[in-house]
Amino acid sequence: MNKFYITTPIYYINDVPHIGHCYTTIAADIVCRYKRLCGFEARFVTGTDEHGAKMEAAAKAHGESAQEFVDKMSQTFSQAWRILNISYTDFVRTTDPRHIASVNEIVNILYKKDLIYKSKYEGLYCVGCEKYLSEKDLDENGNCPYHKTKPVVQSEENYFFRLSNFTQEILNKILNGEIKIEPEERKNEIVGKIKLGLDDISVSRAALEWGIPLPFDKSQTLYVWIDALISYLTGIGYSDDKELFNAFWPCDIHLMAKDILWFHAVIWPALLMGADLKLPKTIYSHGFFTIEQNKMSKSLGNVISPDDLVNKFGVDATRYLTVTLIPFGPDGDISWQGLISKYNSDLANNLGNLEARVLRLAEQNFDSVLAQTEQDLSLAQKTADLLNASFFGEMESLHLHKAAESLQKAITLINQQIEKDAPWNLAKTDKAALAKCLWSYLQAADIIAICLIAFMPETSQKIWSLNGANGSINEAAQKYFKDKKIVAQEFSPAGAQLSKSQILFPRIKA
Ligand code: MSP
Repeated sequence: MNKFYITTPIYYINDVPHIGHCYTTIAADIVCRYKRLCGFEARFVTGTDEHGAKMEAAAKAHGESAQEFVDKMSQTFSQAWRILNISYTDFVRTTDPRHIASVNEIVNILYKKDLIYKSKYEGLYCVGCEKYLSEKDLDENGNCPYHKTKPVVQSEENYFFRLSNFTQEILNKILNGEIKIEPEERKNEIVGKIKLGLDDISVSRAALEWGIPLPFDKSQTLYVWIDALISYLTGIGYSDDKELFNAFWPCDIHLMAKDILWFHAVIWPALLMGADLKLPKTIYSHGFFTIEQNKMSKSLGNVISPDDLVNKFGVDATRYLTVTLIPFGPDGDISWQGLISKYNSDLANNLGNLEARVLRLAEQNFDSVLAQTEQDLSLAQKTADLLNASFFGEMESLHLHKAAESLQKAITLINQQIEKDAPWNLAKTDKAALAKCLWSYLQAADIIAICLIAFMPETSQKIWSLNGANGSINEAAQKYFKDKKIVAQEFSPAGAQLSKSQILFPRIKA
């Protein structure tokens, strides 16, 4: 079986998860579920980034030991992913012994190859970013432009990684597509920055206790970013299952927002080259979104949590809305108003209404069983054609919002046919014609359910069973996703017991 491996960033856990973390994680889950339906054996790794100055400070502020704090906070993430039905195959905590073993192995390789050396370092360090900033990175007040706080001056003997050795090789590999960075504009930014030259980077701290001690000098701990990136190896068995590792490395897609693209597009490939490991195939950075034009922050009180979303919309609608509200790739802005109006238009009015009215007419006129009926697959085939032309291509390019748009177009097509047929009139005049129409709507709606699986796994399963469709929806999808071509067929057989009409997505007041 073909293999597929996707990752999300491993998140900082100085605070609880928010919609930004959900965005990347749900997107990765949708891509991964889609790939599984296409016949891939897929691995999906996420996790929590638990070391570093930021975590040490947060634990202190909570009056807890760092270990107690991260044990508790890591669970808030794994639990959110459970609630959101995230189908990860591994959740790496950087405090896991198996991760520490991976880190030791990689760092030792780099040290033995003289790619890590000791030197004096002095620089401005932003704890929020967990990185050194140069004078020109600072804003007019001398603050970190992102966190608006003064960086601390750090001066100590550190170990350095010879990033500069890799400048030309990384540049060449990005330019020749061996390291594929998407989207194109972000690749160009990275290329421009590399051309300015790469300096060696400090990869250890003498003063910070909360980190992984360097295997060759226990008086220093490893820089949190080097520790974190190696989680992508740990999650597929680098330290404890080399067979699995060899089957799934290199990674197909590292997914993240643009804020941390540099680490993934430059530092990570250099570390991998240094350790003689293959490079990831695609590094995809989606945009960063604001909430009603503001950065999400506790002080502004505009942080949206996964619980807020699930309480308002339910699990599947949260999955759908989070990743489709703004185009996947560029920066964007999210608001509650926007989420609610998309919920009402796409889910309550379009998809929900389709299901409710078809089942209601079947219930009122045929006791929810369409016995013998003339079979007309033309609407289902039109639905399939529309999706074949756009849905699969958009999914392959990770244009999740466009794939969802094509689903909405297909649902609209079916609803328009219903308006045109006016089956509520046929109910009074021609029951045979009505049965024929309803049967045709069901087969078309089943196709929607099949294409919706990755976005809304429970809803698609529900529609499939409400419609009395035959067999497993996943098997039906696998049959067509392999070739990326759906062919209309009788999914919901005549004579099947349909469910009574249900409101899948009750309208929400704005
Ligand atoms: N711990 C590092 C990542 C190490 S990966 C080896 C880190 N963690 S983080 O908690 O700050 O997560 C950043 C990521 O969260 C972003 O790259 C993105 O995936 C997601 N997002 C957080 N806020 C977001 C938005 N407002 N918009 C889009 N994505 C968001 O960096």
